[in-house]
This record gives sequence, structure tokens and C-alpha cells, in this order.
Amino acid sequence: MAGIVLVGAQWGDEGKGKITDLIADDFDYVVRFQGGNNAGHTVIHGGRTLKLHLIPSGIMYPHITPVIGNGCVIDPKVLLEEMDRLEEDGLTTHRLLISCNAHLIMPYHRDLDGASERRLGKLEIGTTRRGIGPAYMDKASRMGLRVQDLTDEHIFRKKLEAALHEKNDILGKVYGLPTYTVDQIAEEYLPYAERIKPHIAETSSVINRALEADQWVLFEGAQGTLLDLDHGTYPFVTSSSPVAGGACVGAGVGPRKIDRVLGIAKAYITRVGSGPFPTELDDEIGTHLIEVGHEYGTTTGRERRAGWYDAVIIKYAVEVNGLTDLIITKLDVLSELDTIKVCVAYEHEGHRYNSLPCHQTVFHHSKPIYEEVPGWREDITGCRTFEELPAAAREYISFIEDLAEVPVAMIAVGPSREQTIMRRWERRL
Ligand code: GDP
Ligand code: IMO
Ligand code: MG
Repeated sequence: MAGIVLVGAQWGDEGKGKITDLIADDFDYVVRFQGGNNAGHTVIHGGRTLKLHLIPSGIMYPHITPVIGNGCVIDPKVLLEEMDRLEEDGLTTHRLLISCNAHLIMPYHRDLDGASERRLGKLEIGTTRRGIGPAYMDKASRMGLRVQDLTDEHIFRKKLEAALHEKNDILGKVYGLPTYTVDQIAEEYLPYAERIKPHIAETSSVINRALEADQWVLFEGAQGTLLDLDHGTYPFVTSSSPVAGGACVGAGVGPRKIDRVLGIAKAYITRVGSGPFPTELDDEIGTHLIEVGHEYGTTTGRERRAGWYDAVIIKYAVEVNGLTDLIITKLDVLSELDTIKVCVAYEHEGHRYNSLPCHQTVFHHSKPIYEEVPGWREDITGCRTFEELPAAAREYISFIEDLAEVPVAMIAVGPSREQTIMRRWERRL
């Protein structure tokens, strides 16, 4: 039995898509357990570059069953467009399973996401405006429509009518936006249902049966630890649980089924959208990281904010996810720097914080305490073993490892699959 969870250890975009695709060959199932098309996972496979938003990054392998779990929110239009794009690329999507309990993103969710951000003005969260937050709000307030509702027109219309009763008031009276009729949305959504129906399954029992039959299941996280609704930098977070525990809830498996938890982190750190970011660099080094690392959002195209590696955040991610391994990506992006800084603690009003301060305001105003290490100023994109890395790069990884107190299992030195150093990964035979 092997249930392995892969999560982002920072603020997202750590390279989860690349690593999922890299190890997916060993698995029978790859399961998305939270989030929606706010995610943008880049997979470079067989000479093709794919940007996946909803479909698990294991889709490239014909032997894998990709699953969208109950914890996800699904915009059916986006899902079908993504499936069409993959089919046009010669990939087959017929194996895709979609949980009957996943919630649907409705047109009014997208409208409300945009309207609430506009209303917040300077205080905006900087969401992807894909309707993620409003869809999870409806799930929590028990007003959501689920994938299974697509299979029964009568129920779909009844639930939609109840939801619109409230949503139209908010759209029209609070935000002055156009409202919807049941027919208008039903006419758009019910045809989607015809295409989605063959994929609908009770995915929790499918996954549990697979694990009992000793098959390998990879749970692919979206977003990252610091974007978690409970454990992230609230309110500048997403509305789901990207931490490893979210895999249990969002896929419907018990914690005893999880054998290993992989945390992905860049060799520096980035963030898209608003919120505190102690190691953010507003100088030429920040610009260098953005340019060399091509730090532009996969989903929205926004420029990402960039900064030095924050070991306090990683230590926190090790704890809240129960990480067994760390995977460091984009080490190559640091190659041209003379020296590299690592944040080992924070300082605020004369106090030193070795772990994340409890109070958001303290975190917001914390100054990083850095340790500086030498750079290597050498192209490392061709390195395939740890020993081939320059000594300074090896020392940087060892330093990260000591601070995190978990082993670094893989090191990515470029965007493609081959550009990865495997240190602790036993292939399934
Ligand atoms: P995800 O959301 O965690 O899957 O990450 P994204 O795909 O949004 O962003 C990661 C970006 O970095 C993608 O463009 C990847 O192709 C790229 N990438 C991944 N690993 C590496 C690496 O080791 N080096 C470089 N230079 N790029 C990488
Ligand atoms: P992947 O899976 C980086 C950020 C948004 C915003 C906040 C809330 O590619 O790592 P939302 O639309 O979710 O309500 O926005 O979360 N965000 C991400 N940042 N990578 C992502 O996904 C993200 N998904 C959401 O920028 O700050
Ligand atoms: Mg991304």
C-alpha cells in the first residue's frame, strides 16, 4: 500500500506539476484533493508544455487514473475546455474520474469574486477571480450545487433556484451587477452535464479500494501551505486546505493510509497576490529571480513577488504537513548570484522569533534575520547527481536540510523532467 501526498511548502508555484509528472509513472492514481482552476501546474512531458488547472498532472500516463476529489471546486466550462485541449494534444481523458461530491463553480461565484475584490480596493486579497472563494463559501453555508446535481435536471433547477434567490439579491442590490435566471444558467450547465456524467464516480471508495489492493496513489496538492485557510497567512489565503491533512478530507481517505508526505519548495520563494512576505526583495536581486525564474503566474499571468528562501516558513511547513521529505526546485535560478541569503529567524521590536509569530501583525512587520552563504556561479542545469553539483550548491542544500530537519529527496535544476537529481526515491519495481 502506498499513499503519498505531495504539497506546496510555500505560497504555491513551487513546481508541484513538474514533480508530480516526474514521479507519477510509479503510481496507479493521481488525485487532486482541493482547490480548483486557481491552480496552474506546468508539466513538460514528451516535448510538450502543458498548463494544467483542474486535471491532475498524471494525465500524461495512460496507465494512471486521474481523479478530481470531493474537496475540489469545479468550473465545468473550464474543465471541459481543459479536456478538449488535452484531447487535441493527442492525450486521452476518458479515464478521468470526478467526485460526485465535488462542488460546482457557478457564474455568480466568478462575478462575486471580482466584485468583492473591487470592493476591498487596496485591501484586496489578489485572488485569481475564478470564483474559488465564493464557491467554498456556498459549500460551507450548504447552498452549493455539487457535481451529482448535474445528473438530475429537476434537482439542479430546484437547488439553483434556492441559491439564486439569495445570490441575485447580493449581485443586484449590494454590487449593482446583472442578475441571473434559472433558465439562463440551466441552459449553459445542463449540456455540460452530458459530457461530465460518464466521469462521475464515488471516488473515495475507488481510492480506498485501490489502496487496499496495494496500488499506489499520489495525492497532488494545489496552492501551498502558507495559502491554507487555517494555517496560512489569513486573510491572504485561498479558501481550501492545501496542507497534507486536506488530502484525507478532500479525497476521503483516513490518515493511516498516508505513508509519506513530500513538501515542494523553491530554492528561494515567491508569492502571487497580496499579503505579508518577510523576505520579499524589491531590488535588483528580486528582479533577477523573477526574470531568470520566469516568475509569471501560470493562471493569471501576474508577475510573482520574489524573495530569499525562508527557513522559518519551511520548518513550519514540515510541522503542519508532517513532511517526511523536502524537494527543492529551481536551484539553477540562483546560479548567477555571488552570495545567497537564507532567513533563519525574524526580528520584531527587539524580539527574535525562531518560529512563525502567532500574531499576523507581528509576522507582517517582521524583519528577516539572514545567514549568508557563498554562491557557486556555475551552470548546474546539466547536473544529474548530488556529487556533480558544485561544492557551494551542495552546502546550500545541506544547510537547508539541517534547518528543516528533514531530508532533501530531490533537487530540480531546470524545468524539464530530466533536470532533476533523485537522492531519496525508490522506484516501484
Ligand atoms: P506549480 O503550480 O507548483 O505546479 O508550479 P508552476 O507550474 O505554477 O510554476 C513552476 C514553474 O517553474 C514552471 O514554469 C516550471 O516549468 C518551472 N520549473 C519547475 N522546476 C524548475 C527548476 O528546477 N528550474 C527552473 N528553471 N524552472 C523550473
Ligand atoms: P498553484 O497550485 C500561487 C493565491 C492567489 C491569491 C490567493 C487567493 O499553481 O500553486 P484564490 O483565487 O485562490 O481565492 O486566491 O491565493 N493563489 C495561488 N498562488 N499558486 C497557486 O496555485 C494559487 N492559487 C491561488 O494569487 O493570493
Ligand atoms: Mg502554479
